[in-house]
Amino acid sequence: MKRIAVMTSGGDAPGMNAAIRAVVRTALHYEIEVYGIRQAYAGLLNGDMNLMTSREVSGILQKGGTILQTARNEEFKTQQGQRKALRRLNENSIEAVIVIGGDGSLRGGMALERIGIPVVGIPASIDNDIYGTSMSIGVDTALNTILDALDRLRDTATSHNRAFLIEVMGRNCGYLSLMSGILGGAEVVITPEKVISMEDVATQMGDAYVRGKTHAIAVIAEGAPYKTNDLLEFLNNRNLGFEIRLTILGHIQRGGNPTAFDRLLSTRMGVNAVERLLEGEHNIMVGLNGRDIVPIPLEDATSKERVISEDYYRMEHILSR
Ligand code: ADP
Ligand code: F6P
Repeated sequence: MKRIAVMTSGGDAPGMNAAIRAVVRTALHYEIEVYGIRQAYAGLLNGDMNLMTSREVSGILQKGGTILQTARNEEFKTQQGQRKALRRLNENSIEAVIVIGGDGSLRGGMALERIGIPVVGIPASIDNDIYGTSMSIGVDTALNTILDALDRLRDTATSHNRAFLIEVMGRNCGYLSLMSGILGGAEVVITPEKVISMEDVATQMGDAYVRGKTHAIAVIAEGAPYKTNDLLEFLNNRNLGFEIRLTILGHIQRGGNPTAFDRLLSTRMGVNAVERLLEGEHNIMVGLNGRDIVPIPLEDATSKERVISEDYYRMEHILSR
């Protein structure tokens, strides 16, 4: 193999830059050229790609976002788009692609495999919804950002005897909400996976008041079965004792410098992805299993569901009282 390419795709995640750096430097170590494809599949279709040097990935290890930028693109989902992509890769003599992104991006990787391009995927998404890896790149940083916000919000909540609804990201996955609820000491956690009625949320928050708590924090996942604003209205119509405020954390959760955990994960996955490709492995994603980085078939990574351990729900129930 003489030349490979790397792209970042889907929602950006802190640690993507560290992964790009690891891919580029590992490939160059083995005397393989690396093209950086800008703006994911959109850039691939436009032929927006360049040879990367070791210097170009200097000073990016600690930076959030992605120097290659990212995009979402519908044309690549079509056969015509994929044929165009193959032409672009052939024009540039690219023999394999490393895709850094979420499950949608990895599905794009499978489309590349179907047209004959070897692919190794690296899971990166703050949602932690990808099967086959206990952690995806960006999750730890996002979780720390949420915890920082939650700690601050509790300070002001306690000072005013208020309840707060805090909406966090995660698409249809409750990982960020559940973990930030446990680690931030929330009174209530509302995830997409486990339905808890608005009535029960009101009861739990009202109970917190009766028990003498000076605040009540409810963390609600953006993918919860009801809208955060509807819950706010519902709670405002109950007499909980607390005055209620709402904070939607939004894209703040996606930015920022990656934590040590994310830098290490990105670096290990980047090195591992290139080494596996050079050993002839492809149509896989590299995943974290225990302490090891292991190969997971792309088919499994994109079709199976990552389930959150029941233990965490149990812990949350015990500790929030
Ligand atoms: P994420 O990777 O964060 O899950 P998306 O689901 O938005 O993000 O997917 C990112 C991009 O991957 C899409 O915009 C599209 O270009 C590509 N993609 C997603 N699903 C497919 C698919 N089934 N076939 C081909 N490409 C896909
Ligand atoms: O997948 C990452 C994520 O941040 C989700 O948590 C969220 O639902 C979505 O992307 C937001 O996407 P956009 O950046 O297009 O608003």
